Amino acid sequence: MSEKPIILGIETSCDETAVSLIQGDTSGVPKILSNIISSQVDVHKEFGGVVPELAARSHLEKIHLIANKALVKSKIRIDKISAVAATAGPGLIVCLTVGLNFGKALAASLNVPFIGVNHLEGHALSTKLQKKIEYPYLLLLISGGHSQFLSVNGLGKYNRLGTTIDDALGEAYDKTAKLLGIEFPGGPKLESFAEKGDPNKFELPKPIINKGGCNMSFAGLKTAVLRITKNINSVQEKFDLAASFQKTIEKILYIKSKIAIEEFCKINSVKNGSFVIAGGVAANRGIRKRLIEISQKKKFNPIFPDINLCGDNAAMIAMVGLEKYKVKNFDNLDLNANPRLALDKNAKFLKGAGVKL
Ligand SMILES: Nc1ncnc2c1ncn2[C@@H]1O[C@H](COP(=O)(O)OP(=O)(O)OP(=O)(O)O)[C@@H](O)[C@H]1O
Ligand SMILES: [Mg+2]
Repeated sequence: MSEKPIILGIETSCDETAVSLIQGDTSGVPKILSNIISSQVDVHKEFGGVVPELAARSHLEKIHLIANKALVKSKIRIDKISAVAATAGPGLIVCLTVGLNFGKALAASLNVPFIGVNHLEGHALSTKLQKKIEYPYLLLLISGGHSQFLSVNGLGKYNRLGTTIDDALGEAYDKTAKLLGIEFPGGPKLESFAEKGDPNKFELPKPIINKGGCNMSFAGLKTAVLRITKNINSVQEKFDLAASFQKTIEKILYIKSKIAIEEFCKINSVKNGSFVIAGGVAANRGIRKRLIEISQKKKFNPIFPDINLCGDNAAMIAMVGLEKYKVKNFDNLDLNANPRLALDKNAKFLKGAGVKL
């Protein structure tokens, strides 16, 4: 087995068609040889959200082109690839199937191992593309579909400490942005709106802030924003509401991260460690600032992926592929896509009205 294996990663779980080639390195930090991402924002913009059928069609149209682009950019001959890794879940089944089948066919034709990857594990290990991190570490995964605190104990070994009991944080950003008249996906733009507003103008709720450990809830914020938007007219008031929303989220994450760090220390019998914040929302500058503050206060080392590795990309899928390749954790070609794949398979389902915290 090569000391410097080359992994081709494929990501098509939602609305990004992405292919990347990375090469393992004896330093422990792999080299990203190429990382091509084709976003479908323009396809879905007019619908205000991702339309699965259109997303799948777009993946089908583009996957060959993107794979070819990634290969050319990497300057690697196709027969030098050691393994092919593709996202197997969670995500939209019609989208996952495109990348998964393309990956299986490519692996079979090259006669190399095929590796199915949990998309969330991709986010969890994305920082390993930049630096070495010792297990266990605390992870806050904040993305379009998930918001969870996890103790990452090793490859494939996750212990969920807390989760959102309703909306994911990215979803809350996108829904609030929509109410403020910002185009999909509104998260990044809402942040720039917030920078022009008064964060103390509107008081927004912080659901379950004093209970439920490090579990989180964001749905109540969207409802409060909806109520306020009915009574505001000026652009400045929209900036103020965005700023108030941003401030409230920062506060919630600060408090819940403090609890999560304490729980992490307790279950792992440690006094300090690394706190990795990953997923699309980890690109948010205000959130980064506040989470650096709480990390320093608790003597934790805050680690964020580069902005271009926060959102969906295939380098993070190849990263998981590389880790699995090293321990020969391969999949058969009959592996099915699983839209509900979880990180901690033993964690309780905590969603919906009447959930007991
Ligand atoms: N600067 C930002 N501030 C707030 N939210 C942001 C920012 N940048 C991106 N986002 C949000 O991140 C989300 C996209 O993240 P990501 O691509 O990781 O999610 P996903 O892949 O759709 O969901 P999952 O990974 O849970 O399956 C969107 O909701 C987007 O609005
Ligand atoms: Mg994602």
